[in-house]
Amino acid sequence: MLSHAGQEYALDEGFVPSTLGELDRAVQACRRCPLWRDATRGVCGEGPKKARLMIVGEQPGDQEDLAGRPFVGPAGGVLDAALTEAGIDRDDVFVTNAVKHFKHEPRGKRRIHKTALVSEVRACRWWLNAERRLVKPKVVVTLGATAALGVLGRKAAVMKERGEAIAQPDGSRVLLTVHPSYLLRLPDEAARVAERGRFVEDLKRARLLL
Ligand code: URA
Repeated sequence: MLSHAGQEYALDEGFVPSTLGELDRAVQACRRCPLWRDATRGVCGEGPKKARLMIVGEQPGDQEDLAGRPFVGPAGGVLDAALTEAGIDRDDVFVTNAVKHFKHEPRGKRRIHKTALVSEVRACRWWLNAERRLVKPKVVVTLGATAALGVLGRKAAVMKERGEAIAQPDGSRVLLTVHPSYLLRLPDEAARVAERGRFVEDLKRARLLL
């Protein structure tokens, strides 16, 4: 039993959140891995509770950790613009992350993102699976390798497997694509334009599966 804001949460395997609100409150008390210690809060997914499309990122960044909402920083800007270009309204999408706490290290006054360990992604998978069970999306798009690991439960070769609609036991289909931060990091303008185009095509493919 763990307590948060005066309420107690049983985090044993028998605990099954029955609403997204209940899940969110329980995530704030999560001690499944050490990442809660340095984060402001757990950041759960947001969007319609029965969204047909779920988009899964890696983990909240600096701005998401402070705002308590996924994809509100620079990567979110890239995602929002690509969704619009692909003909998808973000308001129709349940947007979440494979890892619910911001993993980072201090550098001067800044908090620098650190990639979560496989064990941390696996620990947080419990929450991601709970979100999937509640929302029941028809299509799940994963952004980057960490998201693919969280959703599929195995390491994936994103560049090789992107484009396939991977059937899931719950009847949904998973499409792998790159993370928007990858697009932001590409040093070459021509490569950035080409890769962004592929990213938009991946999102369009997801829309056609809905
Ligand atoms: N990157 C992610 O993967 N998720 C966010 O919420 C923000 C940035």
